[in-house]
Amino acid sequence: MEKEKIRELVAEMTLEEKAGLCSGSDFWHTKAVERLGIPAIMMSDGPFGLRKQDDKADHLGINDSIKAVCFPAGCATASSFDTDLLEELGETLGEECRAEKVGVLLGPAMNIKRSPLCGRNFEYYSEDPLLSSRLAGAYIRGLQSKGVGASPKHFYANNMEKRRMTSSSELDERTEREIYLASFEQAVREAKPWTIMCSYNRINGTYAAQNEEALTHILRDEWGFDGLVVSDWGASDDRVPDLKAGMDLEMPSSGGINDRKIVAAVQDGTLSEAVLDTACERILDIVFRAAEAQAEGCGNFDREKDHEKAAEMAKECMVLLKNDGMLPLRAGEKVAVIGKYAVKPRCQGGGSSHINSSRVESFLDAVAGMPGIFYKAGFDDASDETNEGLLAAAVKAAEEADKAVIFAGLPDLYESEGYDRDHMKLPPNQELLIREVAKVQPNTAVVLHNGSPVEMPWIREVNAVLESYLAGEAVGRAQKELLYGEANPCGRLAETFPIRLEDTPAYLNFRVEKEKVHYREGVYVGYRYYDSVKRDVLFPFGHGLSYTSFEYTGMEADRTSVTEKETVKVSVSVKNTGDMEGKEVVQIYVAPPESPVGRPAKELKGFAKVSLKPGEEKTVTVELDRRAFAYWDEQLHDWKVYRGEYQILAAASAQDICLSCSVQVQPEASAHTIYTRNTALGDIMADPEAMQKLAPILGRMKQESQPETEQSEAEQSEAGKEAITEKAQQEMMLNMPLRALASFGGVSDEQIEQILGMLNN
Ligand code: BGC
Repeated sequence: MEKEKIRELVAEMTLEEKAGLCSGSDFWHTKAVERLGIPAIMMSDGPFGLRKQDDKADHLGINDSIKAVCFPAGCATASSFDTDLLEELGETLGEECRAEKVGVLLGPAMNIKRSPLCGRNFEYYSEDPLLSSRLAGAYIRGLQSKGVGASPKHFYANNMEKRRMTSSSELDERTEREIYLASFEQAVREAKPWTIMCSYNRINGTYAAQNEEALTHILRDEWGFDGLVVSDWGASDDRVPDLKAGMDLEMPSSGGINDRKIVAAVQDGTLSEAVLDTACERILDIVFRAAEAQAEGCGNFDREKDHEKAAEMAKECMVLLKNDGMLPLRAGEKVAVIGKYAVKPRCQGGGSSHINSSRVESFLDAVAGMPGIFYKAGFDDASDETNEGLLAAAVKAAEEADKAVIFAGLPDLYESEGYDRDHMKLPPNQELLIREVAKVQPNTAVVLHNGSPVEMPWIREVNAVLESYLAGEAVGRAQKELLYGEANPCGRLAETFPIRLEDTPAYLNFRVEKEKVHYREGVYVGYRYYDSVKRDVLFPFGHGLSYTSFEYTGMEADRTSVTEKETVKVSVSVKNTGDMEGKEVVQIYVAPPESPVGRPAKELKGFAKVSLKPGEEKTVTVELDRRAFAYWDEQLHDWKVYRGEYQILAAASAQDICLSCSVQVQPEASAHTIYTRNTALGDIMADPEAMQKLAPILGRMKQESQPETEQSEAEQSEAGKEAITEKAQQEMMLNMPLRALASFGGVSDEQIEQILGMLNN
């Protein structure tokens, strides 16, 4: 509906109707205003299947929802590194929503994986904001192309489940911008979601729902968001300040309590009616977008067809972490298939995203009828205790087989929405099973089912590991095709697998202290930390093996020097040098030069997935713009690029750099550092742009203070000693503020002001 018509409609609404429109009528619907022809629309979870509840509503996945298709969870789809796949997932879900008359699907979930312990990591995409934002953007585009609104969530800094409704995420501006906001930014700017869901938590003391800076200044004014902001279910602590901050729609219904508060606030003048009108206009805009799409006709929810799509997707997501040659399996080999998850796979997580799957295809379903398969349960996933009988039977079967494949993973109770993990280990009974089987069977593979990394103290004892993540209802089919080499693994880790929990950057701070969660590791999240401190990891970000091999050649940049307004195109060729068709994920990282601010050793700035037949070669091109080189400057409250030589790396993982080239980035004309009397001389001297301005002045001062004289030999040797002292003096000087030139450098106050004028001009 046109904006003008919406404004007219709002003008006709009573104050009570307007207040009422700003919260749900029940758990899943907005309120209709029949006398004005305003329909209600339905929202449903998301994000990787349709959790539509007819009655018995809840937001924790406890009560039933309609039978639907469970696609791979966010942890899995992210490992595809495939924007086309995410777009197709969005389109498919869009069709399903249309068929079920759902106007907004609550997803994608795209918070950053700050620690492997967050109970909800299985829903989220990555530790890297660029990857997260691009994948989410593709999902949003696909979904909305079907006339169904997306609701990227949870905006923002909601990275642990413990006390998620009250705790305050304490983080600095640079960390917000470079990591936690960045995860949403590109998706919002480019895919234009209809809605965005604000998170439960506080951010630096202010509830996300009341955060005007985030909901209005950043989201709308900077990023151009033009949809509505909806609360996470029950995230409104104080409805009137929420509205003023830009949180338009409260879900679910407040039972009329908050409607009355809004009416009272307008009547007593504490809330401007114009603010309420704006929220109503935004809500009606989305209500009519959804209603108009539905009026065009229903989509088709073909569960069988979508199950096939879920199988295809799962294949693209699984990550072959280790393979010393044991895989692929050969048909006819005698394989001991061990572990409960071969029959009852863990394929999705718990909580609001939980899908009532119409059909789950396990590994044993997929290999039914194949000769040579012997199944043993091995462990009981309802307990951590070893069941000696199950263990002994599994070990015996492994001993008698050609190969053993153990289907292990995290039990449902280990990870879920609503709480976090306490540790990063598999249950002890499964660890023991893996070790005991590996002792008797020299060809042992482990297939994992988990939403977040686990420690693998047994890694050297096994020959292969396939990470399935939570791969959706067709998980078993994908596992069978990948394990038997009917398909080639092509997933890559969207997160680092650390060796031990203690190695993780947030280890000391992943806790709620007096209702605060301190993000003290700052921008050093995931590989940004491990690479910067050169910490060994179990499997790096971006890692994933294939049954074929790839060779990178001919990396080049289309220019060697760029200014802030230019982009640089980086190309690299990749060849399939093996004998099986396969896909490679080319990752482009940028490593900054030394600069006055600490920066991660490198950051992902582009990626592309290419499919190659044996012998085939393709060239991948990634375009890097100013943001690829920038960091967030807290003084300027803006992105800033330092001049210097940036290394551009073409890599197969964060730790497998294949080729590199460099580009000289020129200083910016617009955003420069603001210098004060108290800026350290070292900071000024490290800024080439500032030094260009300052050098002539310093030179003049030096000349004036010590005129040059000829030196005798003795004087020169004395001078040698003095050079050392001079060096020390220089080092000390670097730490002095500019104003110290007045005390120690014979510079007048006026001259200092002059210098500042030049530097800041
Ligand atoms: C979750 C959201 C979900 C909502 C509705 C909340 O508990 O955090 O992700 O969309 O419930 O089920």
